[in-house]
Amino acid sequence: MAVESTKKESWVLTVMAQTPTNIAVIKYWGKRDESLILPINDSISVTLDPSHLCTTTTVAVSPSFTSDRMWLNGKEIPLSGGRYQNCLREIRSRASDVEDAEKGIKITKKDWEKLHLHIASYNNFPTAAGLASSAAGFACLVFSLAKLMNVKEDNGQLSAIARQGSGSACRSLYGGFVKWIMGKDDKGSDSIAVQLVDENHWDELVILIAVVSSRQKETSSTSGMRETVDTSPLIQHRAAEVVPKRILQMEEAIKNRDFPTFVQLTCSDSNQFHAVCLDTSPPIFYMNDTSHRIISCVEKWNRSEETPQVAYTFDAGPNAVLIARNRKTAALLLQRLLFHFPPQSDADLNSYVVGDKSILKDAG
Ligand code: ADP
Ligand code: DP6
Ligand code: CO
Repeated sequence: MAVESTKKESWVLTVMAQTPTNIAVIKYWGKRDESLILPINDSISVTLDPSHLCTTTTVAVSPSFTSDRMWLNGKEIPLSGGRYQNCLREIRSRASDVEDAEKGIKITKKDWEKLHLHIASYNNFPTAAGLASSAAGFACLVFSLAKLMNVKEDNGQLSAIARQGSGSACRSLYGGFVKWIMGKDDKGSDSIAVQLVDENHWDELVILIAVVSSRQKETSSTSGMRETVDTSPLIQHRAAEVVPKRILQMEEAIKNRDFPTFVQLTCSDSNQFHAVCLDTSPPIFYMNDTSHRIISCVEKWNRSEETPQVAYTFDAGPNAVLIARNRKTAALLLQRLLFHFPPQSDADLNSYVVGDKSILKDAG
């Protein structure tokens, strides 16, 4: 066995992967099981183009590593948290033999139980600021580890593992529009992501991210949704009555590329998600004044007959995700946003492009 040979003690085997983030158009907010991360409703998201907002993760294994370690954006973070441990355990238990003839490395299924990992991950967009870094991050972690350890599961099974890192992460295993089925099983075996349509189905859509603030949010999504489930009388109504109908309507709208219905559902669901945050005790404010002004700007645009429609949605943070029907509308939208919310400096202006990040100030 190669890992026992002193001659080969110095080898390192690495795998690098990139995973884009995803933005929910019908939101996940609330768990029925905290440790397995089982949601109280289905959700639907769109996965962004990997050339824009994404996580890059490199995983390495070597007999010279003495413990599992992880660096996030260049800073070491503890892997002791249950979520990281759950993902590592699930992947390790599915590892297969790996052979690299060129390097003279052979790792057996059994070896994986003893070998340690080093993980380095980098987000090219703000972390913990409401742009779903946990989604891209945990999806990329699970995907890269699965590749390294030769895990022979399909994306559906990998999505169930990524889910145990962060719920929204299960949806980043696929491109296009993706549904996270909440499932019925207590153990979570049927709480997986499925692709509704691939990235080519509605490739005219353009997604513009307006970074209102890249500061780390005060209430993480995990604690925010826990407080909502514990205290909001509205959340049960949302999960049981509103979302199931919206999921069906959204699936139809996506299938038929019905943009007006898509806009109506996306905006309503974002607003209801922030309404349940307000209905939480004490209330959670993820959006700020600039977010509200962006909503007013888009609503005004959508009410005027001669301008095409735009969808807005805000995750657990103040940053706006705007979805335009095509490039022409996106260009008009960008022009309007630049007028009302000019970037604070020339440097920011360079990063204020369609599908990329930007820093906005409120022009009043
Ligand atoms: P966001 O809105 O950005 O998803 P969350 O509060 O849901 O914010 O999650 C942020 C947390 O996700 C971080 O504190 C970190 O624990 C985890 N995370 C973010 N990026 C990564 C990554 N690349 N790899 C692993 N974990 C990550
Ligand atoms: C508002 O997936 O970040 O972005 O499962 O606790 O890690 P945990 O939460 P997370 O929550 C995402 C909430 C949301 C909506 C969504 O992505 O569906
Ligand atoms: Co998150």
